[in-house]
Amino acid sequence: MITNNWDTTLYEDKHAFVWKYGEDLLNLLSPQREESILDLGCGTGQLTAKIAETGAKVLGIDADAAMIAKAKANYLDPNLDLNFAVADARSFAFQTNFDAVFSNAALHWIPDADAVITCIYQALKPGGRFVAEFGGQGNVKSIIDALKGSLQEIDFDSQGLAVSSLWYFPSIGDYATRLEKQGFDVIYAVLLNRPTKLSDGDAGLQNWLLMFASRFLCMLSPEQQKQVIHTTEQRLRPSLYRDGVWSADYRRIRVVGIK
Ligand code: BEZ
Repeated sequence: MITNNWDTTLYEDKHAFVWKYGEDLLNLLSPQREESILDLGCGTGQLTAKIAETGAKVLGIDADAAMIAKAKANYLDPNLDLNFAVADARSFAFQTNFDAVFSNAALHWIPDADAVITCIYQALKPGGRFVAEFGGQGNVKSIIDALKGSLQEIDFDSQGLAVSSLWYFPSIGDYATRLEKQGFDVIYAVLLNRPTKLSDGDAGLQNWLLMFASRFLCMLSPEQQKQVIHTTEQRLRPSLYRDGVWSADYRRIRVVGIK
């Protein structure tokens, strides 16, 4: 049975693309020695550790205790200035302020964007930068449409399952406006299509659904879950499966804001 808790082993084994693509975002962050950096929504800590390897002082936070436990087990190292803590992106606060807040593939999980933006702003030093990437408008649209169609086929009422209540995939206009309202200077914002190959061949889409669409699937019985996954695969095969590999129709928003 699928629940809404993170399976950190499945996450690390089958979803390495989450932080592999994030490495590109590190160039945009360009961490410097001795800078203090907050990694917001750090997951199991792969990118947090990479930032720390540059000589920066890094704190990784995530709302999920299992993710933080795994991050600590993976990466705590006396040679790095690196720490991890459980914290909620909508309400965190620390004694000292940061030179930069970095976030990869996390903010789409939190529909209450304004609360997050306020915390980020308050956590930065004046002149500090916010560098983030996450799902933008239209992200995984074909997967969501197929999933909703499959739920309808079993007469499951998905009307109440508004995507906007589960995830936050904003347009550039929406997100940049929120940042500016908070006081950020938005110096960079792009929306880019990034079709992303899923690992594990035939099982790629199923793994993705189990990991990332559990908020839909956890309301179903085990039999219904199986059927919905199967029907969703059939619906998406013509567009997202090629030469034995599944892809997800990712669309990313990337932003840099200065306090
Ligand atoms: C994403 O990384 O784009 C994503 C994550 C969870 C649900 C949907 C999309």
